[in-house]
Amino acid sequence: MYIYDDYDQRIVDERVDQFRDQTRRYLAGEITEDEFLPLRLQNGLYIQRFAPMMRIAIPYGLLSTRQVRKLSDISRRYDKGYVHFTTRQNVQLNWPRLEEVPDILAELATVQMHAIQTSGACIRNTTTDHFAGIAADEVVDPRPWCELIRQWSTFHPEFAFLPRKFKIAVCGADEDRAATLVHDIGVHLRKDHQGKVRINILAGGGLGRTPVIGALIKEDLEPEQLLNYLDAALRIYNRYGRRDNKYKARIKILVKAMTPEVFAREVEQEWDRIKKISQPLSLSEIERIARHFTRPDYEALADLDFNDLALQGSPGFQRWLKQNVSAHQQTGYSAVTLTLKATADAPGDVSAEQLDDIADLADRFSFGELRVSHEQNLIFADVPQTKLPELWQALDRIGLATPNRGLLTDVICCPGGDYCALANARSIPLAEEIQRYFEDLDYLHDIGELDLNISGCMNACAHHHVGHIGILGVDRKGEEYYQIQIGGSATRTATLGKIIGPSFKREKVPDVIRQLMSVYLEQRYDGERFIDTSLRLGLEPFKEKVYGQKAA
Ligand code: HEM
Ligand code: SF4
Repeated sequence: MYIYDDYDQRIVDERVDQFRDQTRRYLAGEITEDEFLPLRLQNGLYIQRFAPMMRIAIPYGLLSTRQVRKLSDISRRYDKGYVHFTTRQNVQLNWPRLEEVPDILAELATVQMHAIQTSGACIRNTTTDHFAGIAADEVVDPRPWCELIRQWSTFHPEFAFLPRKFKIAVCGADEDRAATLVHDIGVHLRKDHQGKVRINILAGGGLGRTPVIGALIKEDLEPEQLLNYLDAALRIYNRYGRRDNKYKARIKILVKAMTPEVFAREVEQEWDRIKKISQPLSLSEIERIARHFTRPDYEALADLDFNDLALQGSPGFQRWLKQNVSAHQQTGYSAVTLTLKATADAPGDVSAEQLDDIADLADRFSFGELRVSHEQNLIFADVPQTKLPELWQALDRIGLATPNRGLLTDVICCPGGDYCALANARSIPLAEEIQRYFEDLDYLHDIGELDLNISGCMNACAHHHVGHIGILGVDRKGEEYYQIQIGGSATRTATLGKIIGPSFKREKVPDVIRQLMSVYLEQRYDGERFIDTSLRLGLEPFKEKVYGQKAA
């Protein structure tokens, strides 16, 4: 894990002091609401429906147990005893008091955390694969590249006031677990036939009211040029991106308007100019950063036979082993997902008590580190397989062994109308209704892999366009309704979901999902996932089932 040097620590500490003074002046009436707005946004502070919301950065989703304990402590002392993990691998406090935010930031700084660039029109926290560095299908470890991007983008003077927010995601494995195709910039790390790292860059992806899949703008970039190239891409966006209309200000609109080819050409020309005056990244710098991400002290262990292992445990353990335990690069080790999706808990929420327990378990079972996934789950990345039964028992005791990773009840969900002032409808109670309705684990496991994403409005914070089933809260004459789409995915062959028809009231939604499932179960080929069946069949049979008539 990256450890701050003196310079990192100083800039974070200085930022806390600055914000303390800014908050004091605001509370004393010395600066206006309008003047305070950009200052608080630069420190992750939104005003939500009922209270401020504070978004804390978790660089590329990596957390140490020390940081987890600090989050627990902060949530007890300054909030309501829980935190919320987000779809951008960050963590949020929902009820901080404005006057105490400087103290919270000071506490965070003691464990190398901050809220810098977690909101506002700047480069936001870079996200990546939650299995980075350990995934069995990994080609290049994305973490050093994320850290290089973090250092380059933090307080980059040229990109502090972009036309709009800017999100970068990095992936280095065969499977894209970072949704790179729906980010402003997607960075794909790969290796050429000589084993050298090469980078493909995508631009102009994004969700929100205009969902767009990113376009490939550069192939085979030399890694030494990554930051120069990103500089060039951001400059073109900064120069030509629209500032007159915030709904047209994201890079996706610019790339679409220019066409990806013209945008790529502009970036290439800018990059040529930059290369003449700016040094490439040196190999020694890349290696220096990479040394922060060395492998932990693994024991020499052999892989266990999971069929044998399963036989030693209860049905609950067997399900969890099948669903929540993932392959690892190191023999004898596995990655374990703790889904924060138990029925009745808001997706992504964790209590302070659970955080303390999680920290203790990560110390015991996973080298004192954990990760956050954009599916709003937590991951123990390095668990010896011999310890899986013991870990399962411990997790089961604290309600964190729900065996539903990647299944219908592993819902991605935004805060919606319970917290967010922009919402058309509530998301959390719908997630809960769906989880209650689909409690039968045999049924869920039979359905298999299914991403269900719920956003409370078209801003799409829960990525509903790229859910296999996506649900969007809409307002119909002051009433909460939900529009359903199917066929979306955020993989390397990302697709945007298509709306099946008119929206429904909340109580109807679980039954509509059951009807969609019945079409799938009747028509799937052997081993075919819901997403594949829905793309193969198209909307028609699903519409027919749900609306009871042949769709026009
Ligand atoms: C006060 C609460 C929030 C507000 C006001 C808010 C606002 C917005 C807005 C306006 C957009 C659309 C941006 C655009 O396309 O131009 C957006 C997108 C997004 N937000 Fe939120 N959001 C909030 C909370 C959250 C939370 C809690 C999460 C994570 C669970 C989140 C994650 C995202 C993501 C992933 C997008 C994706 C769309 C994209 O950038 O392409 N947001 N948000
Ligand atoms: S999708 Fe809409 S309702 Fe949900 S958090 Fe984002 S802005 Fe709020």
